[in-house]
Amino acid sequence: MTISSLNSRTGLEVRLASRPNGLPTPDNFEIVEVPVPDPAPGQVLVRNLYLSLDPGVLMLMSEQPGVPRPRYEIGEVMYGDAIGEVIASAEPSLAEGDLVVHRLGWREYALAGPEAFRRVDKGAYPTPSLHLSFGLVAYVGLMEIAQLRPGDTVFVSSAAGAIGSLAGQIARLKGAARVVGSAGSPEKVRHLTDKLGYDAAFDHHDGPVLDRLREAAPDGIDVYFDNVGGEQLRAAIEVMNEHGRIAVCGALTRQSTGRPDPGPGDLLSVVGKRLTIRGFTVHDHMDRAAEFGEQFRGWLREGSLVYDETVIDGLPNAPRALIDLVRGRYTGKTMMRLGS
Ligand SMILES: NC(=O)c1ccc[n+]([C@@H]2O[C@H](COP(=O)([O-])OP(=O)(O)OC[C@H]3O[C@@H](n4cnc5c(N)ncnc54)[C@H](OP(=O)(O)O)[C@@H]3O)[C@@H](O)[C@H]2O)c1
Repeated sequence: MTISSLNSRTGLEVRLASRPNGLPTPDNFEIVEVPVPDPAPGQVLVRNLYLSLDPGVLMLMSEQPGVPRPRYEIGEVMYGDAIGEVIASAEPSLAEGDLVVHRLGWREYALAGPEAFRRVDKGAYPTPSLHLSFGLVAYVGLMEIAQLRPGDTVFVSSAAGAIGSLAGQIARLKGAARVVGSAGSPEKVRHLTDKLGYDAAFDHHDGPVLDRLREAAPDGIDVYFDNVGGEQLRAAIEVMNEHGRIAVCGALTRQSTGRPDPGPGDLLSVVGKRLTIRGFTVHDHMDRAAEFGEQFRGWLREGSLVYDETVIDGLPNAPRALIDLVRGRYTGKTMMRLGS
């Protein structure tokens, strides 16, 4: 990781220096200080407050096939979800002081036309970072993709993570009878049952996942919210009840190693049990954002949902934090705080 410096009003940005082979190292990133010009006519200047860290970034850095969004090019600033405050505007639709979400993260200042930014309600949440929550992903995966029904038993993998920590709680709020989660350490397993309301949880490092899942869900599972693929997906298929539904949200097994995942394995059980396995990306379901946002704010207000977030300061720490995130160091949604 190299840091180069220029004179003038400046901000930091993170560029892809080289493609990682497996998990990235800090050398795959370059942090550069660049001039921050005033907005030209039709442009808006935003000072970023929070950058959302997403394990999906690893696939955009790599040469792996099957990536649903444009890959980063070497030497370019990485993009990512962020929220910031307009500090200068030469465009009538956005004013100084507006709070905006956008994809020009991995930099301290974002300068672009108004189409790059979406204004959000400053009073909606106690902290701006909540506008970047992955709650909608959890909600769409459960309600639209897995067609959750009251009385279902739900299994969530990476259940202490950004999406998983909300998926288990939303499943319960929507009537699931039993919610089971997996995570990567005894502390996280306790966090799931003690803080996030899971009925049972297990450590995915702790012996064959199939055995742990059968113990945690002795009557089988109806819905599997899959963040990881790999052994956990194969175990879930074996433990699913007839007409079970699997929402494939992420591929952390593959994302964390860079190695291909052999996938769901023998499909005879899928046929015999008439299972549905459906992948999704939240961007196809933005029409449900308003409906979700209203419920999410209500749950937070009445205290029926715990929002877990890990906040790390300073853009130069983002590459290391991304690596630590995928190695399992944090719980909840991991955010970089770039300003306050
Ligand atoms: N479909 C969509 O629209 C959409 C949108 C956003 C994100 N995603 C994807 O959804 C998944 C979850 O995202 P997130 O932000 O909530 O991530 P996250 O769960 O917070 O990711 C970090 C966690 O991944 C777990 N992990 C790492 N390697 C693993 C492995 N080999 N096996 C099992 N767990 C492993 C670690 O948990 P433990 O310590 O518990 O092992 C770590 O704490 C990611 O694949 C992400 O790219 C999908």
